[in-house]
Amino acid sequence: MTSLKSVLRALVGNRAAPAPAAAPAQDGYKAAWNSAARADAHDAILTGATPEQFEESGKGDAERVRRWLRGGDAVLNIGCGVGRVERYLAPLVGELWAVDVSGEMLARARKRLEGLGNVHLREVGNDEFLRSFEDERFDVVFSFLVLQHLEKEDAARYLRDAFRVLRPGGVFVGQFPNHLSPEYTRAFLEGLDLASRSPGRVRTYTEPEVRHTLETLGFAVEELRYGGDHGKSAEIYVAARKPARVTAAAPPRSVAETP
Ligand SMILES: C[S@@+](CC[C@H](N)C(=O)[O-])C[C@H]1O[C@@H](n2cnc3c(N)ncnc32)[C@H](O)[C@@H]1O
Repeated sequence: MTSLKSVLRALVGNRAAPAPAAAPAQDGYKAAWNSAARADAHDAILTGATPEQFEESGKGDAERVRRWLRGGDAVLNIGCGVGRVERYLAPLVGELWAVDVSGEMLARARKRLEGLGNVHLREVGNDEFLRSFEDERFDVVFSFLVLQHLEKEDAARYLRDAFRVLRPGGVFVGQFPNHLSPEYTRAFLEGLDLASRSPGRVRTYTEPEVRHTLETLGFAVEELRYGGDHGKSAEIYVAARKPARVTAAAPPRSVAETP
């Protein structure tokens, strides 16, 4: 949907977001995304998309989640933005919770989702993750176009929390940019010499990395597909289930412990 130019912009730094130097370090994601939302929230979410394309993509991503619903589900979205997906998913679920680090994005989501009584929006801090939600609260947790903007450790913390808040047998549905795709490889190379990098710039992943990260956290990957609007292998879409009976995964031994 978006041009390669916009992929490049997304990868090397969000055009609307300030350079890291402009935001005090402790403000991190929140400052960058509030600023991006004030400048142009829709463009910060899907750069260059027309209003029609924005809505079509929301329907498409709602459909990716719908496939994993059982009926009356409690669902959580990590990083909802303006509620691009919520508008189409809310009528299909029992309750739909959505968190975002940006109060500015959430203010726009509140307007967009007015009248959808089963939607609950919550602002989170830079270092809060899903702490405010109890264990095993949700049937499905999903996230699109968010984990890619986080430091990989922070993305893994969200995934670890997603595992915690899912009921046994619940499903995580997510998307990661494919580092090995021609589009993101080219974009990565274009960004090498950038003087300053936005804290919200895109981080790419490989399929083994996605599988390994999820499996290390205890998930069983049920489905992994390539797709997306930037190119047919540009995005990795994954659905991973929390096993019905959880056996605590032994933490990997550190290199120092290896005999
Ligand atoms: C590209 S937008 C995608 C929005 C939405 N997921 C969608 O697909 O339309 C990225 C969103 O992630 C949010 N975000 C960034 N860092 C976050 C964090 N650490 N915790 C929660 N949300 C975050 C931003 O505020 C922004 O709304």
